Amino acid sequence: MANPAFATASAGTRKVLITGGAGFIGSALSRHLQELGHEVFVLDDLSFGRRPLAGVPDARFFKVDIRDRRATQEVFAATRPAWVLHLAAVHFIPYCNEHPAEAADININGTVSVLDAAQATAGVEQVFVASTAAVYPIADGAMAEDHEPGPMDIYGTTKLATEKLASEFHLRTRIPTIVGRFFNAFGPNETNPHLFPTIQRQVLDGARTLKLGNLDPKRDYIHTEDMSRAMSALLGAGVAGFDTFNIGRGIEYSVREVVEAFGRQLGEELRIAVDPARVRKVERMHLLADVRKLKAATGWEPRWGIDEGVATLLKEHVTT
Ligand SMILES: NC(=O)c1ccc[n+]([C@@H]2O[C@H](COP(=O)([O-])OP(=O)(O)OC[C@H]3O[C@@H](n4cnc5c(N)ncnc54)[C@H](O)[C@@H]3O)[C@@H](O)[C@H]2O)c1
Repeated sequence: MANPAFATASAGTRKVLITGGAGFIGSALSRHLQELGHEVFVLDDLSFGRRPLAGVPDARFFKVDIRDRRATQEVFAATRPAWVLHLAAVHFIPYCNEHPAEAADININGTVSVLDAAQATAGVEQVFVASTAAVYPIADGAMAEDHEPGPMDIYGTTKLATEKLASEFHLRTRIPTIVGRFFNAFGPNETNPHLFPTIQRQVLDGARTLKLGNLDPKRDYIHTEDMSRAMSALLGAGVAGFDTFNIGRGIEYSVREVVEAFGRQLGEELRIAVDPARVRKVERMHLLADVRKLKAATGWEPRWGIDEGVATLLKEHVTT
């Protein structure tokens, strides 16, 4: 049942602007929102994303760097979105570690630019800002939203700043604003070499002994379709002020367990050879979402398990 703290769900379709909509999660979101009948516009500089993934015609696609304040404002003026979902960011942790100034510039200054453009545009009803589980400190047990943040890398630090900017934006504009703390996404069209595409590529290249790094850390893997439904459910519920929600599945799997899921779907045994070059020196052993708040607010439930997700990943690549 929906949380009474939320205003009446607003029916009907909206003009929606997704920043980062040509990326891994943004493209799933674009598809999902269009399936619901919304008119989707995508702003993306294609630094990590790919144009076809955006899934919108040229008239609704804007190749713009969010740090370009004028161009960003022009996109908002041209599209007049009711909902803004800000996902554009650099987020592959090794990339952020190697390029800390660029990560800060895009994730912080870029967010200021997007939020300023939203403020300057009449008719923005709601804003959703993508954050990450990386804002949480190393800890055992499921993380709830009120857990003290403690990012351990430049990426998590920039995203915590993004959250603060979102909160300050809400105070300044009174526009209802939601922060979504994404846990580890999996699904088709992954743009960065995270665990799933790394295993997928090796398996599809014919390897049955996989080269991987740390095997024991556990992560809360959530399918991009389930994430997209969580975002639309939150926006549909109509959060009244500023609020933060974990977006995860509430189950954690180790690297070994993910490999086992690939093995099950292949019907073959997969072995693992630890590749020292891939072993991270600093590693969290757990990162698990407490998703009770999201479920209570929206009634959302995840639909995709690891095995179903792996099955479609293997099929998709086998047939293309
Ligand atoms: N993938 C995950 O597991 C995960 C986990 C936690 C949080 N997140 C967050 O979710 C969001 C989407 O991540 P993703 O996995 O889809 O990554 P992604 O790299 O596929 O998507 C990010 C998109 O932003 C675009 N972009 C980057 N810099 C830009 C700029 N300066 N101007 C305009 N566009 C720019 C990229 O081209 C890309 O299409 C990000 O905010 C990320 O921090 C992702």
